[in-house]
Amino acid sequence: MRHASLLCLSLLTLSTIASAQMQPPLTITHVTQVTPLPNGIAVTADGGILQITALRPDALRIRITQGTQLPEDASWAVLPAARTATTTVEQDSTATTVGFHTADLRVILDRASATITVTDTAGHILQQDIRPVEYHGTGFRLYKQMQPDEHFFGLGDKVGPLDRRGQAFTLWNSDTFGWQESTDPIYKSIPFFISFNQGRAVGILVDNTFRSSFDFGKELRDAYSFGAPDGPIDYYLLYGPTPKQVVEDYAWLTGPSPMPPLWSLGFQQSRYSYFPESRVMEIANRLRADHIPADAIYLDIDYQHHNWPFTVDTDRFPTFPGMIKELAAKQFHVVAITDLHIAKQPNVGYAPYDTGVAGDHFVKNPDGTYTGWVWPGNAVFPDFTQHQSREWWGTLYKSFYDLGIAGFWNDMNEPALFNIASKTMPDDVQHRIDEPGFLKRTTNHLEIHNIFGMENTRGTYEGLLKLKPDLRPFVLTRASYAGGQRYSATWTGDNSSTWNHLRLTTPMLLNLGLSGFAMSGADVGGFAGTPQPDLLTKWIELAAFQPIDRDHTADGTGDQEVWVHGPAQEDIRRRYIEQRYKLMPYLYTTAEQMARTGIPIVRPLFLEFPDATPDHHPLDLDAPAEFLFGPDLLVAPAPYPDELDAYEVHLPPGEWFDFWTGTRVNHAAPLVSQDAEQRNAAQVHLIVKPTLDVLPVYVRGGSILPLQPLVQSTNETPSGPLTLRVYPGDNCHGTLYQDDGISFAFRTGTFLRMDSTCQLTPGSLHIHIGAHQGTFHPWWKQLAIEVYGVPSTTTTATVNGKPYSLTAPSDGKFTITVPDTGKGIDLSLP
Ligand code: NOJ
Repeated sequence: MRHASLLCLSLLTLSTIASAQMQPPLTITHVTQVTPLPNGIAVTADGGILQITALRPDALRIRITQGTQLPEDASWAVLPAARTATTTVEQDSTATTVGFHTADLRVILDRASATITVTDTAGHILQQDIRPVEYHGTGFRLYKQMQPDEHFFGLGDKVGPLDRRGQAFTLWNSDTFGWQESTDPIYKSIPFFISFNQGRAVGILVDNTFRSSFDFGKELRDAYSFGAPDGPIDYYLLYGPTPKQVVEDYAWLTGPSPMPPLWSLGFQQSRYSYFPESRVMEIANRLRADHIPADAIYLDIDYQHHNWPFTVDTDRFPTFPGMIKELAAKQFHVVAITDLHIAKQPNVGYAPYDTGVAGDHFVKNPDGTYTGWVWPGNAVFPDFTQHQSREWWGTLYKSFYDLGIAGFWNDMNEPALFNIASKTMPDDVQHRIDEPGFLKRTTNHLEIHNIFGMENTRGTYEGLLKLKPDLRPFVLTRASYAGGQRYSATWTGDNSSTWNHLRLTTPMLLNLGLSGFAMSGADVGGFAGTPQPDLLTKWIELAAFQPIDRDHTADGTGDQEVWVHGPAQEDIRRRYIEQRYKLMPYLYTTAEQMARTGIPIVRPLFLEFPDATPDHHPLDLDAPAEFLFGPDLLVAPAPYPDELDAYEVHLPPGEWFDFWTGTRVNHAAPLVSQDAEQRNAAQVHLIVKPTLDVLPVYVRGGSILPLQPLVQSTNETPSGPLTLRVYPGDNCHGTLYQDDGISFAFRTGTFLRMDSTCQLTPGSLHIHIGAHQGTFHPWWKQLAIEVYGVPSTTTTATVNGKPYSLTAPSDGKFTITVPDTGKGIDLSLP
């Protein structure tokens, strides 16, 4: 009793103190003046000003401030061309509201509360403030209505389910070794999310680099909110209505991932760390001896002299340049780690330190150069907010790049620091922004922290481009910010070798893709710990269908290469990696679409099938482990990968084929005998019994998939025909894209594109393989056209009008092999 009353008393005292200290927030309300602008409105209200402008009919920018003048108009994330884009609007005003409309959107500002509502032209609410903007000191928070059917995606690789609804997140780049499902924040800060509500998608980028936070109905049941402790209120609203359109708009706003080098889509072998040199060669030789197709080997920190970036430990790597050459001769690309912490080693001839000091490139404390402790011991850090420091950083790559090292790994760039509770730079570290488009000014780390890693990769990417302008750079980063996809691919950091981490990988990569980072992967097999045999096998299976396929593990863990655990496991693993290589033309075509449009390589189902459910909820909510690899392949691992129970696979409405067997999964009757209505009945549910050696993959009926003969690396020229697998169905089409895989010659026309279609009517099938577009000469001379789902009675076809006799289709599939003249092919089945 006594304890209880003491507790009550102390709670009372605490809450009295708290309420005395808590000031009510300042708000911006009551519009006092409205200035119409050609592209929007500028509004003065009690407590601050608002400016809402249209960049395009479907894209708005909203800027709000407590002061009387908007802050500096600059951005690390948004491309200048998008930020300055403008479209004219029609002003609207009533007794109680002001606003405007474009061809797609209507903006309504309530005069009394200065709250904003955005609708489509039919009046559907897309976003609505539920209360005036709140300021707590320099910090702000905006509250928006959350609809009962609204779901949220994005925010990069934040851990947790695909749908962010019901959760809250902080954006502060953090080195979180061994993160778990509940860990937040982690390595990247990407303040972009997509709301999907009853079939209408809206994208929101909150361009604020401070420690922002997002709450999707956790604090309030029917509201979502975002805010930051400092910095501007500057956000963009991108309207779909389709989620795909929003993703493309976001790529317009912040830039797509660049075209990756082809080799980076191959299998990559890594560990912390392969050394000495002989061990690196042993791994390379074993990959080739065991016929595990592979393209890249990574050198983690132990190749360096005492962990000093841009050095080589010549005891461990006595013939480093020779090793790189030998690996190249075996068709391996080397990716070397180059962390951003420069060892503080004066007077020993360590050029990165000496030239950095000479050029005044390192960040400072208020009272001198900042020094922190990381892998090399005492280290200093380039000020990547100075363009001249990024340029200097880029030059550090020259000797490695000249040696033939193909890619670079920017790790620890949150930045990560040891021996300090915050595990990062102190808040008062100074950054001297010197950057086109920005005011030249000094600011502290709180503003720069979240973009530090991105600007590190920018220095690397742009530096590599300067060194070899004709070569596509490959940069892999751990930390980044919105827009960082322009400079680097990414991975999800230090995951663990557990079944749960295998499961978490898919939503992380899907949300990364929706947030611009389409070139992404997770450490295959897990970083912390050593995977059990079946776990590694299942992980290798899944990663064969992810953008970056890199096996990586921590120091001190067991071996994690494909061959560990014996031949039976290795055979299964090899088969999946081989399948990835056979699908390389499809994967590369998908990568080209990514680089052109921003549409990611792995996609949630609702991105391709937003109308898959009658009430327009995302189908992914019913099928949490499923995803699309490119436009046409649906991968359906077990939702709990360690469980042996049968599980349900949900396929969007339409026709589907089993990728491995080629059989149609949803109907018994031959395709060509059915009409569209019969074919498109509804969603299909399958029951799958998991087995170790099968990852269920399905192909959309209506797709034409390009595949190639097996190679051991992407450097090897495939021998034999290019295969086009035709899976008839509605809206049947397929594209193939090829180029040299390495240079920018595609920009001046040296590429090849073939667009193909097929038409299915009851009783006949017509396939049109498009003529070659572009000037690139492909490796194949022939096309093997494989057609699935045809009746076994089919024995004749016509090719370019001439009869062609077929061997009777087996399992509903036949193949015809014809020369590819580049002029196009028409193939008809009676
Ligand atoms: C941390 C990275 O996340 C990990 O992948 C790497 O192996 C170690 N640093 C050592 O460089």
